[in-house]
Amino acid sequence: MDRRSSRRRLLAGAAAWWAVPAAGDDDAPRAGDRLAAEPGTPTLRSDMLATGAAPRLVWAVDPATGRARQGSPRHRILLIRLDPAAMDAATRARSADGVLAYSAVCTHGDCAVRDWRPRQQLLHCPCHFSHFDPLRGAAVVSGPAPRPLPHLGLREEDGVLVLAGGFSERPGA
Ligand code: FES
Repeated sequence: MDRRSSRRRLLAGAAAWWAVPAAGDDDAPRAGDRLAAEPGTPTLRSDMLATGAAPRLVWAVDPATGRARQGSPRHRILLIRLDPAAMDAATRARSADGVLAYSAVCTHGDCAVRDWRPRQQLLHCPCHFSHFDPLRGAAVVSGPAPRPLPHLGLREEDGVLVLAGGFSERPGA
């Protein structure tokens, strides 16, 4: 095999690796899904979240069946409501009445990001102390996390929170 064809095979292999979905990804959150804290609980409205309060960890819910998309722990979503005037433009554009949705899984080591530092307005991972700024796309402010928490766009339908799309990137480490 010449060098050019072995390079082609290498590139094809790399493309195939990227195309392989993670376990449970065929059940990943998607546009149109509602959100609920636990399976069987009411789907969430923006007015059920207080501005500046600690984030809620939720699941996406298939609106056709009412089933929570729990195929993978990496599908857990973090919801937080903040002042839209404090957000950067891109973050504000994907919020709904101040509510933002991010992956709840740390990009460093898959821990649940659930802690909130209200004075600094930062999300905190308790495992190795990464901080993320939800007002700026969950950018990493400090700690070992290598990238922001993936985001999901939101919209409202009669006050009910609805996903405008899936995760912006593969969630987790
Ligand atoms: S798992 Fe979150 S900082 Fe390490």
